[in-house]
Amino acid sequence: MKNILEAPFMVEMIRTATNMYDHGWDERNGGNISLMLEPEQVTAYLDAEGVLRTIPTGFTAPELDGKYFLVTGTGKYFKNVQYAPDVNLGIVRLRDQGRQADLLWGFADGGQFTSEFPAHMMSHVARLKVDDKNRVVMHCHPANLLAMTYVHDLDEKAFTRTLWQMCTECIVVFPEGVNVLPWMLCGTNEIGEATAEKMLTARLVVWSQHGIYGAGKDLDETFGLIETAEKAAEIYMKIAHLPRVNTITDDQLHQLERRFNIRAREGYLDD
Ligand code: 13P
Ligand code: ZN
Repeated sequence: MKNILEAPFMVEMIRTATNMYDHGWDERNGGNISLMLEPEQVTAYLDAEGVLRTIPTGFTAPELDGKYFLVTGTGKYFKNVQYAPDVNLGIVRLRDQGRQADLLWGFADGGQFTSEFPAHMMSHVARLKVDDKNRVVMHCHPANLLAMTYVHDLDEKAFTRTLWQMCTECIVVFPEGVNVLPWMLCGTNEIGEATAEKMLTARLVVWSQHGIYGAGKDLDETFGLIETAEKAAEIYMKIAHLPRVNTITDDQLHQLERRFNIRAREGYLDD
């Protein structure tokens, strides 16, 4: 059996968590990542019958039965993932309508998956409905996006348009825009369901006064999505208190649509 710590998905997960920490997005235990794995990826490194223990999920998601996830642990620091991946990460396989998670590797100190497991798993279900290539759900606390939710209108169209106007390529990276949830209690099935609902129409969901969720086909793409939105929010927070002399116009955003062959979210331009 090959060494799982050398598996490309594991190396990428460790690098991504470290990079997120280095960006200041994941203070203390802030943030969590889940990466859906193909069965073949897992069985090359692990005995699929070797269940270490079973952890109840507290929700139902029949679509995920038999699916494998590499996921960060609750209370674990992204800072430490690189030093002790087998303590800070785990690999689980869901069964029993998604109600049970069999632990196959990791959480070596007796820990368990992130408290945001409902939001992650429900978001995977939602994203897979619109994109069967989706594999990643990522949550973190980037300072500028968070700051923006204190001073900007939380209307999704208004929030999205502001971000699009902050950097020329934002509309290219997230043409569907950014969805926004009001403040809600984190770690609950309720915020999980609300996040998943928002994930049906966009890969970015802001949690007001808390952070952001991103989804994508791989870790790099999902990281890049959040990175781009956070950069735009940073520009906004630098200029929000200053008179706006210039902006990116809707006409220019349309030029970007044509140049990059993308379509801005219906109804978000020209009014
Ligand atoms: P966990 O430590 O349970 O992953 O929680 C961190 C977090 O960001 C909650 O929203
Ligand atoms: Zn959080």
